[in-house]
Amino acid sequence: MKKINGRFYKQNILSTEQFTKSDIDTVFKLAINYRKKVESGKAITDLKGKILTALFYEPSSRTFGSFIAAMQRLGGGVIPIQGITFSSVSKGETLEDTIRVFANYSDVIAMRHNETGAAQKAADVSPVPILNAGDGVGEHPTQGLLDLLTIKERLGRLDKIHIAMVGDLKYGRTVHSLTKLLLLFQNITFTFISPPLSPMPDEILKMVRKVGAKIQKKSAIVDIIKDIDVIYMTRIQKERMDPKIYKKMKNMFILDAKLANKMKKNSIILHPLPRIGEITTEVDKNPRSVYLTHQMRSGMFVRMALLKLILTK
Ligand code: CP
Repeated sequence: MKKINGRFYKQNILSTEQFTKSDIDTVFKLAINYRKKVESGKAITDLKGKILTALFYEPSSRTFGSFIAAMQRLGGGVIPIQGITFSSVSKGETLEDTIRVFANYSDVIAMRHNETGAAQKAADVSPVPILNAGDGVGEHPTQGLLDLLTIKERLGRLDKIHIAMVGDLKYGRTVHSLTKLLLLFQNITFTFISPPLSPMPDEILKMVRKVGAKIQKKSAIVDIIKDIDVIYMTRIQKERMDPKIYKKMKNMFILDAKLANKMKKNSIILHPLPRIGEITTEVDKNPRSVYLTHQMRSGMFVRMALLKLILTK
């Protein structure tokens, strides 16, 4: 996939494979700068007059809400399409035509879709940049970036990290995007813990092996909890499987207070959310937990940074 290499203006953001280390640095510097400005109460008008369409074919709270907040905090406007019930998609309008419609009204489209590859399909016909806000079991690149920023800020580094990814690694797109980003850094150890029916896809395992990063597969969180710097919990993607299979997989891996307290002092607990019981609520007050705070809030600043970079020269 073609790298951004500093050329953000009018770029589609479809996969984390597009980012170089220097691109990540550019996004993070701007995101941190925006955090400071927002938290100091400064009004920002960097994207005044620009419009974002948030076109979400699948449910979302965080990505939808934070893309809209990001554009509004930059002084821009939004066309919020959450769900297809009240758009002409419900009358049978194709994805391609829907993209052409909103490209007439807006400068950029953030799109979530149930089909893997839908973001590329949209980009192929769109005269305005497409930001992939999650495409089926494919990728969720802006989530990958916000996860990476959270790790960098909390651990103070991106090299020499042992991360355990736990849960539905086959259908959970956030772990695909984050894994690809971590491959840009040195001395990364991945421990994958998933139900046998939902392992990390071979295509991603191949990428990990290619750069020489270490892979471990474990069947229980307790086996590695004392060794890791990051635990990345995920839910089982109920909507992408047969209900019988979901029943077999749900509640297989749960991070509770007893387990969380065994983690290294400076380690962190991430989850892209929503959680469906994978982290018990008592873990929320553990100082290692960042999923309801730092991680989630970083999404808005990363999306502000990307919108600004893509929409201005
Ligand atoms: N993390 C994430 O994608 O959450 P939403 O599905 O609520 O957008």
